[in-house]
Parts: sequence; structure tokens; C-alpha cells
Amino acid sequence: MFSKLAVPLVISISVTPLILVLYLKNRRKQKQVKDTDCIKCIFITARNSDCRNHLMNNYTCSPSCSMTYLIEILKFLKSAKQTISLCMYMLTLDSVYETLVEAHNSAINVRVIADSEMSRNTSSKIISLKSKGIPVKMQPLDGSLMHHKFCLIDETDVLSGKLFFGSTNLTLQGLSSNWDQIIFTNKYSIIKRFSEEFEYLWQELN
Ligand SMILES: *[C@@H]1O[C@H](CO)[C@@H](O)[C@H](O)[C@H]1NC(C)=O
Ligand SMILES: *[C@@H]1O[C@H](CO)[C@@H](O)[C@H](O)[C@H]1NC(C)=O
Ligand SMILES: *[C@@H]1O[C@H](CO)[C@@H](O)[C@H](O)[C@H]1NC(C)=O
Ligand SMILES: [Zn+2]
Repeated sequence: MFSKLAVPLVISISVTPLILVLYLKNRRKQKQVKDTDCIKCIFITARNSDCRNHLMNNYTCSPSCSMTYLIEILKFLKSAKQTISLCMYMLTLDSVYETLVEAHNSAINVRVIADSEMSRNTSSKIISLKSKGIPVKMQPLDGSLMHHKFCLIDETDVLSGKLFFGSTNLTLQGLSSNWDQIIFTNKYSIIKRFSEEFEYLWQELN
């Protein structure tokens, strides 16, 4: 009786920790992949000063060309399956405008928070976005700047949620003349915080 039970008992006692260790090791590996693999940084500096024309002519001079960066941004926006939540101080780029309208027309939930002062600028695309039916909100004209520059994609989806944030306006100058950066990430803990802030602002604003 005793020996009949002892064999499975010994086996399960020795195998269980092994399975647990393998499981935890695998989980850590998956976590590391998600945390590090899809972080990408774009830096705009003096080497981009000739790239203004490249942005205007859709020409790519190098991997660090402003046009390469714009293509990266457009690819990011076009990858949205459910939502685009954009918070942007200044937006003048036609291709970004067109991509947002295209997404909106494909039943993607596009929402934009913009700066009220910047939106009055004739080169700004914010009023045009509004006229295409995209919901836009702005901060009260109280002297504060809606200075954020970030964009969430499919942020309620833990697996496919994405974010870019940084200092760069979506303008010709932002991508070619200023010294700025954009960070792309799929790290969910950051996405979650930006998403919470976006929803908070969206509730607060008219
Ligand atoms: C740039 O040119 C490529 C190839 O002709 C085209 O597919 C793409 O839509 C163009 N992009 C912009 C932003 O005009
Ligand atoms: C619009 O913004 C640009 C810079 O992006 C600036 O040069 C221009 O003076 C502004 N126009 C108006 C009417 O404020
Ligand atoms: C963004 O664009 C505005 C308007 O052109 C400009 O005043 C500002 O310096 C730009 N850069 C940042 C980081 O806001
Ligand atoms: Zn270039």
C-alpha cells in the first residue's frame, strides 16, 4: 500500500517545482521581450536640417532622414485597428491629416486633443479634422498650453496597444529644424498611464 503511493508522490514532489521554475522562467522571458523589443527612439537634430525638402518631396536620404521618421509615424497611425487618441500641440502635416481622416472613415475611433491657440494658426490641420467629423477637444483659453505630444493606438488592448510620445510637433519644423525626440513603445504600464490621462482630459474638456 505504502510503496504504491510513494512512487507517484515522489514523482509529483520532484516534478512540481521543476514545472514551476520553467513556467516562471518562460514568463520572465516573455515579459522581457515585450518590454525591450518594441521600443524605438527617433532623434531630430542638426543632421536633419536638409530634410525639410525631403519631407515635402517624399524623398528619403538616410535611415535618420526626417522622411524616414514621417513614414514611421504614418505606419504607426495606419496600424490602428480600433482607436487613435492623439494629443498634439501643433499639427500641420498633410500626410498625418490624411491618415487620420482615412482612419476615421474606416470606422476607427479617432479622437484629438489640441492646443486652442495653435489651432487658430492657418497652417494648423485641427479645424479641417473637425470639419471631417473627427471629435476634437481643446483646453480653455486661460493662457495655459496644451503642450502634450503623444499618440495612443488601440490602448485598451494589452497585447496590441502602442504609444508614441516625445517633444516633436507634427510639423515640417518639428521633424526637420528643431532638436527633438519621439519614443515609440508597446510597454503597457506606460500606455496605461497615458491612456488614463487622455480619458481624464477628454472628460474634463468640452
Ligand atoms: C511616398 O511615396 C510612396 C511611393 O510612391 C507612396 O506609397 C507614399 O504614399 C508616399 N507618402 C507620402 C507621405 O506622400
Ligand atoms: C503659424 O505657425 C507658424 C509656425 O508653425 C508661424 O511661423 C506662423 O507665423 C503662424 N501663423 C500665424 C497666423 O500665427
Ligand atoms: C511646436 O510648434 C510651435 C508652433 O510652431 C512652436 O512654437 C514650438 O516651439 C514647437 N515645439 C515645441 C517643442 O513645442
Ligand atoms: Zn533627409
